[in-house]
Amino acid sequence: MKVLVVGGGGREHTLVWKLSLSPKVEKIYCAPGNAGIAKMADIVDIKDDDIEGLVKFAKEKQIDLTVVGPEVPLVLGITDRFEKEGLKVFGPNKKCAQLEGSKAFAKDFMIRHDIPTAKYKEYDDVKQAIDDIGVFGFPMVIKADGLAAGKGVIIAQDEQEALEALNMIMEERKFGEAGSKVVIEEFLEGIEASILCFVDGETIVPMVSAQDYKKAFDGDKGPNTGGMGTYSPSCIYDKDIKEKVEKEILKPLIKGLKDDGLDYKGVIFIGLMIKDGQPKVLEFNVRFGDPETQVVLTRLETDLVEIVESILDKKLKAQEIKWSDKKSVCVVLASGGYPEKYENGKIIEGLEKVEDCIIFHAGTKLQDDNIVTNGGRVLGVVAVKDTMKEAREAAYKNVDKINFDGKQYRKDIGKVAL
Ligand code: AMP
Ligand code: GLY
Repeated sequence: MKVLVVGGGGREHTLVWKLSLSPKVEKIYCAPGNAGIAKMADIVDIKDDDIEGLVKFAKEKQIDLTVVGPEVPLVLGITDRFEKEGLKVFGPNKKCAQLEGSKAFAKDFMIRHDIPTAKYKEYDDVKQAIDDIGVFGFPMVIKADGLAAGKGVIIAQDEQEALEALNMIMEERKFGEAGSKVVIEEFLEGIEASILCFVDGETIVPMVSAQDYKKAFDGDKGPNTGGMGTYSPSCIYDKDIKEKVEKEILKPLIKGLKDDGLDYKGVIFIGLMIKDGQPKVLEFNVRFGDPETQVVLTRLETDLVEIVESILDKKLKAQEIKWSDKKSVCVVLASGGYPEKYENGKIIEGLEKVEDCIIFHAGTKLQDDNIVTNGGRVLGVVAVKDTMKEAREAAYKNVDKINFDGKQYRKDIGKVAL
């Protein structure tokens, strides 16, 4: 079959890699892709939010299956559009994608279906939001309702910071229309874990757990990023928590989707905060996580195409899904200055010296004969080994071999699991 992957980051490189291992796949296209993806797929110069361009391409090339990586096309309704044309597509429809596209929608869903989450209130009037500063005490969690590329969450430590955040989101519209509404939440303490699940509308099956490192610097210091690294399995996600998540979160989630007429087919990502053995949901994402996918799919032994097909046929319940017991770690190499200002176009050297690891490209492109940086997160160095210690050693050994001007990374990815 011919497969099209939509997106061009580390998650999509991992998806292309995993799909390419399937005996069912003859050819893969990726739009827009990156320099790493170009080694295993035909990259196509169409942006991930150009839905009409993607439909046209899929029809022209008679694509058998399209797998959507990022949230933006899903929230824009790429699935509905492809299905209307009779094209097979993997990812939830527009109605379901609101679980990520609107924080207020997601919170309302959770409360109605008794899914444990932080208390919240929503506002479309800035004055009312300001009046309510501190309703749940401090720190105060303020979220732009719509998509803001992971940057729309502000943890205000006091009244002044809350006021600045509300003005920035709702008045200055730093995140555009995403800030026409805000959600204010109770601050939850604890340790975070990411649980990605396969869903076919009837059945929900969790994948192996992962932990993401969102802060830019070692020891969880500095600003929030898209994710500076991950490891799997998460060391706090034990049997008890797993059972609790299945009973208190996954069960009401799948029932809630059905009760609300949300025919959810794809992957749902559950961001959890865990404290004293009690998991609560921080957020839903309607797609694979980045860089969670890099450590989760490298542990998946089953053919991903088989799983995708059983989801589209609503036969997930009968689908066998096998995971390796190995441990995986992904260290992200980012551009100097990320997540603030950074420069692109730095030549990446040493990729040919890598051994014992998989490199998933995120922000890279081919320029003349060089691979150069082309984004905040540049590469993910992934190692899969019998122990976390070996996985970390292999990953960091290779991190040292790769160089580009300004290279920035965390040295403590997965350390907590030793
Ligand atoms: P979200 O995009 O909603 O997952 O928020 C991004 C990050 O902000 C999360 O991964 C947490 O680190 C933090 N966060 C979000 N909501 C809360 C909350 N209610 N309490 C504490 N931290 C939060
Ligand atoms: N790693 C977090 C996300 O994909 O949103």
